[in-house]
Amino acid sequence: MKNKLDLGVNIDHIAVLREARRINDPDPVLALGICAQNGADQITIHLREDRRHIQDEDARRIIAISVLPVNLECAIDEEIINIVKALHPHRATLVPEKREEVTTEGGLDVKGSFEGIDKAIKELKSREIEISLFIDPTIEAINASLKLGADMVELHTGSYANIYAMLNGSLPHSHHKIHELDLPRAELKTKLNNALEEIKSAARYAKGLGLEVAAGHGLNYQNVSDIVEIEEITELNIGQSIIARSVFTGLGEAVKEMRNLCQR
Ligand code: PXP
Repeated sequence: MKNKLDLGVNIDHIAVLREARRINDPDPVLALGICAQNGADQITIHLREDRRHIQDEDARRIIAISVLPVNLECAIDEEIINIVKALHPHRATLVPEKREEVTTEGGLDVKGSFEGIDKAIKELKSREIEISLFIDPTIEAINASLKLGADMVELHTGSYANIYAMLNGSLPHSHHKIHELDLPRAELKTKLNNALEEIKSAARYAKGLGLEVAAGHGLNYQNVSDIVEIEEITELNIGQSIIARSVFTGLGEAVKEMRNLCQR
């Protein structure tokens, strides 16, 4: 039997819209029931150090109210880790964070930041919070994640999404390294294939070591199907494309359409 694929809906961008006016509308809490009713399996939020979207009070209310498990993304930062410990989400996903970035532009430097990640994991595990590490799809990062005692890895699909966008005439998901993608179509196709193969072998390798495998970043209604095919991946976290579509279709419809694409 095929592994079920869970859909985590990242609702940060509802708070982005609210913060554009610094008022209380739209309230991300109102998304919880709509996501649950339309097939989402999880709510994902990121409490950034710069609080550019989700605020502490949002995170508190979302974790208190959500009927779906809440996956809280957070940086390796003492203040944030203390907040996460107190909030006690179902899972914490440790992500790299730079203030100047538009979005998370790469996986954790699991080797270079080993000690900091190790400390954060120990703190969070002392509260029995499940740990996922957001990493690039490499053997080295997976080995380090296992050594660090992570329960799960989330493979960064941003490079795959960027190359897919360049090939299909849309703007890339992130402008990071965009110059590297200014290539002839044949080369882009090879690069896309390589990016997909990297994700596939990383998923297989991580699963073989006993880690749960999620994936996310830059996934949308066009590029998700090849990722859905990767059986070792049991969860996708998708935000921007769902919230963007919801402006036109409503959130329920946008979640339902993505849920349909994520069936196996
Ligand atoms: N997974 C992680 C770890 C993320 O940081 C994000 C963005 O906050 C996502 C998934 C969702 O990415 P996107 O908004 O591009 O779908």
